[in-house]
Amino acid sequence: MSSTPALVLGANGHLGKIVAADLAARNVPLVLFGHSSLPASSDGVKAVQGSLVADDPGLAEALKDVATVVHCVSNPLRTQEIDVGGTQALVDTIKKLYPSAESQPRIIYISIVGIEEHSDYFYYKAKVDAERIIISSGVPHTILRTAQWHPFIKVIADQFLGLKDPSADCYTVPTGVDLRPVSIEEVGGKVVELVLSGKAEGCLPDMVGPEFLSLEQAVTIYLKSRQSHAQLKLYDPVSPDYPDSMFRAFNGNARDPIDPKFFILGKQTWEEFLNDPNSRFW
Ligand SMILES: NC(=O)c1ccc[n+]([C@@H]2O[C@H](COP(=O)([O-])OP(=O)(O)OC[C@H]3O[C@@H](n4cnc5c(N)ncnc54)[C@H](OP(=O)(O)O)[C@@H]3O)[C@@H](O)[C@H]2O)c1
Repeated sequence: MSSTPALVLGANGHLGKIVAADLAARNVPLVLFGHSSLPASSDGVKAVQGSLVADDPGLAEALKDVATVVHCVSNPLRTQEIDVGGTQALVDTIKKLYPSAESQPRIIYISIVGIEEHSDYFYYKAKVDAERIIISSGVPHTILRTAQWHPFIKVIADQFLGLKDPSADCYTVPTGVDLRPVSIEEVGGKVVELVLSGKAEGCLPDMVGPEFLSLEQAVTIYLKSRQSHAQLKLYDPVSPDYPDSMFRAFNGNARDPIDPKFFILGKQTWEEFLNDPNSRFW
């Protein structure tokens, strides 16, 4: 195994934490980069606090002598500055520190399925722009687009559709929201596999869960998992505002039968996630 460290950007985040813990358990030397405070450096793990913006001294420090950069940074409230500008700062800093292409570390970027189709949604536009910055930079890279993760769908149901209140007898659910719910642990496992492969693989096939579900079906399964007989009231998400704008962006996420040739397939279903006592909820 390479003794050159892997850098995890966004090591405090949901996915970053899973990837960092898995790599540490495999004794892969690590550099953890976070915006808020990180656990102290320890044997084989260097922690660097900083911001993914141009000329941040922490970013340059974190990038020194690494073989791989796992980019899990995102800030939906500051997409232009962090998702787009931060990705530009990342490739610029890599090119400055490693002028020869052969010595540049590889970027593994975590993106989302179907973003071009809905690039009028501000978050997806930022993801498209970030991907383009990486692809056009010439820095070696692997881009893994995944469908929505199970805990994120639970947050949507709890917070946007009101399921956090289990006593309601009716919930209002948007129609036309297409999901391929996928396990965040399986996504983390795939990212670790990509780190260990040592290869820059370009744009990978989409990683999706084993089944297609509309949000209505996902909510029905969720209610069943807690023995609720609440009714659903469906509506068309036409408002220009959030969260309807997000719901529309989930439309059209491949309803066709999944051909494993064209996808990286997760195994865990949404129902299994909800009923597994070890599941991590956010
Ligand atoms: N949720 C899904 O279903 C899903 C599906 C497909 C792809 N993705 C993508 O996967 C990636 C990771 O998602 P996640 O849910 O793990 O994200 P997350 O938990 O929100 O973590 C994002 C990380 O970005 C860091 N960050 C924010 N601003 C920063 C800055 N200026 N400098 C440095 N770090 C900064 C945060 O650091 P601090 O915590 O230290 O502030 C946080 O650790 C995102 O790009 C997302 O688009 C998500």
